[in-house]
Amino acid sequence: MRLTASLVAAASLFALSANSVHGYGLLGHTLTGQIAQQFLTPTTAKEVATILPASYDGLLSNAAPWPDKIKFLAQYKWATPMHFVNPPNDDPPEKCLFEYAYGGQDSVNGLYNMTATLKQFKVTPPTTDADKSTLQDALRFFVHFMGDIHQPLHDSTRDRGGNDAPIMWGRAKNNLHSLWDTLLITKDIKDRFKDDPQAYLDDILKLAKTLWQAEAKTWAVCDQGQTEIKNPWLNVTSEIKTLCPIQWATVANALDCTYVWKDYSPTKDYSAEYFENVTGPQTEFLVQKLLAISGIRMAAVLNEIYDPSNNTLLTRRREGARLPPRYLRALEQALAR
Ligand SMILES: *[C@@H]1O[C@H](CO)[C@@H](O)[C@H](O)[C@H]1NC(C)=O
Ligand SMILES: *[C@@H]1O[C@H](CO)[C@@H](O)[C@H](O)[C@H]1NC(C)=O
Ligand SMILES: *[C@@H]1O[C@H](CO)[C@@H](O)[C@H](O)[C@H]1NC(C)=O
Ligand SMILES: *[C@@H]1O[C@H](CO)[C@@H](O)[C@H](O)[C@H]1NC(C)=O
Repeated sequence: MRLTASLVAAASLFALSANSVHGYGLLGHTLTGQIAQQFLTPTTAKEVATILPASYDGLLSNAAPWPDKIKFLAQYKWATPMHFVNPPNDDPPEKCLFEYAYGGQDSVNGLYNMTATLKQFKVTPPTTDADKSTLQDALRFFVHFMGDIHQPLHDSTRDRGGNDAPIMWGRAKNNLHSLWDTLLITKDIKDRFKDDPQAYLDDILKLAKTLWQAEAKTWAVCDQGQTEIKNPWLNVTSEIKTLCPIQWATVANALDCTYVWKDYSPTKDYSAEYFENVTGPQTEFLVQKLLAISGIRMAAVLNEIYDPSNNTLLTRRREGARLPPRYLRALEQALAR
């Protein structure tokens, strides 16, 4: 597996950006993009490279942080609410409830929107520069929102997704949101991986082949028995069976009750036992696992759009309501590498 310069750059830039990012930090987003890259088929990887700016070297890890960088430009203001969802009546840790109402701008809507855009341009390739840049932006937003929707606090309403929930981090004040965006990831890299994000990434890929292996094969499977809410792009997105942002957000939202907000206290030092719990074996390395899930799903959707023929399992149905993993073969090959 390649060590990308971007990963190292992300790590070194992290110190500068830690306070200004919302959503997984630069490092988290870079990691999800790099995980996804491992699971792209060669055809998908080539298509992705064609769409992205040449300076990205065809790497999703270079595309993933972009939406945070352009967030403050007037021309992209419409995308700002697409980094999160605020479900009404959600009140962790007592009540985790992801009641999705379609119609607003949020990450569920954003993922449908971007996926529909990617698919439409796959069917009818862009000819104008304006269309080419719409497509390029859609891919960069897609990769980014796939990361954000897996960060449990991006699917939760209380205290602005934890931004207004103070915590202690060692002896410094911080907040619950940036804990999950960045602090847990960077401390884990520092403490267990000698400050080497590549070693952290390798460990995630190793866990996907070992501890999480059975589960990992289901990550890219949507429960087809469960209806995703009707959206205006259903004519496009209903063909994409690996896309189910409401199901993803519902599961991530539930983690706010089981782990994220559990026993919340503004005076507790979250760098101690809480850190050990959510980054350690007793939660099956939850923080790392969310990055892995995000990356694998990102790859599955992209493979389904750009290389639908490279999967003999595509049409084979298992008993019951669930489809088999659509890109199981590609996934298995990547896991065996
Ligand atoms: C299909 O995808 C797998 C996994 O990425 C790859 O090894 C294989 O070469 C691809 N096959 C074709 C025909 O593109
Ligand atoms: C996605 O959202 C933007 C901004 O609201 C909109 O202009 C665009 O038409 C949407 N994309 C699709 C495929 O409808
Ligand atoms: C899907 O529906 C939208 C809006 O109704 C329309 O603009 C678009 O062309 C349709 N796409 C396809 C592939 O049918
Ligand atoms: C850590 O996990 C243990 C076992 O589940 C639990 O008893 C403890 O309260 C947790 N600690 C924190 C700070 O979450």
